Amino acid sequence: MDDIPGKIVGNTIGAGGFRRLIVRLERPLGRVTPGQFIMLKIPEREVFLRRPFSIYDSRGKTLTVMYRVVGKGTDALAAAAAKAPVMVLGPLGRGFTVNKKNTCLVVAGGIGFAGVRMLLKRLGERGTLFLGVTTGDELKIAEDLEGSRLLTATLDGSRGFAGDVVSLLGRHLDEYRGKSPEVFACGPSGMVKSLRKLLEPSGIPCQVSVEERMACGMGLCFGCVVAMKDETNPYKRVCKEGPVFSLWDLSL
Ligand SMILES: Cc1cc2nc3c(=O)[nH]c(=O)nc-3n(C[C@H](O)[C@H](O)[C@H](O)COP(=O)(O)OP(=O)(O)OC[C@H]3O[C@@H](n4cnc5c(N)ncnc54)[C@H](O)[C@@H]3O)c2cc1C
Ligand code: FES
Repeated sequence: MDDIPGKIVGNTIGAGGFRRLIVRLERPLGRVTPGQFIMLKIPEREVFLRRPFSIYDSRGKTLTVMYRVVGKGTDALAAAAAKAPVMVLGPLGRGFTVNKKNTCLVVAGGIGFAGVRMLLKRLGERGTLFLGVTTGDELKIAEDLEGSRLLTATLDGSRGFAGDVVSLLGRHLDEYRGKSPEVFACGPSGMVKSLRKLLEPSGIPCQVSVEERMACGMGLCFGCVVAMKDETNPYKRVCKEGPVFSLWDLSL
């Protein structure tokens, strides 16, 4: 796969500190499966390794990424000005698989929304989003979402359900009994562990987008492996076999 050169055309901060990066590429990314990601070369010499980001939106030659500043790379990205050159490798990895017969319950924690936003766009009215954030202001992250039903949880209790998003899902799960529910999730590891605890008794199918630090993003360095339950194949690469896995295959 070749690198695609591009230029930053937008890099703005929104509610709750989530940033939106818009890149104009020299050529389109091509066909993207929701849940796939890109490796982005940040325009700052001191940030040597590329960083992985979910594909928030891709239309023709325009790529959008939603991100949060957490360290050196994302800090440098936030400081990048319009017209700065970037290199984009992607689309990478395996995304979500949607079974047309299932009722789709999408669970996102904070910036995890970026990993399921494309899926929600494709699902439209078929999807219900359970979105959990820390403060009410952060709910604006989903303000341009159309079609899907939205249920919200805030940890500070200022909007929607007061508590975490998995507890919110737990309150609604009974409504979907007999409707072949399937859960699609992206969020911090604590959220994924709670999800497993909640869904274990029912064994509802659940696909999770896993976040792991990456170096190459192409399956070469084995720096991104996660432990699996399968003893004959105990490790898988998040960048190549993932980032989306069945929750029931992961050894958490
Ligand atoms: C498939 C995939 C998709 C992603 N999509 C997005 C996205 O759409 N938007 C977004 O904001 N972030 C996303 N991330 C996470 C993003 O890649 C990291 O936040 C980023 O690489 C951090 O770089 P940094 O140099 O700023 O932080 P660093 O200085 O490298 O690290 C800062 C802190 O963040 C932690 N950290 C770094 N990378 C990760 C990671 N991959 N998983 C968990 N913790 C990490 C470190 O342990 C450290 O505590 C994704 C990660 C993966 C694997
Ligand atoms: S990041 Fe190198 S194998 Fe996954």
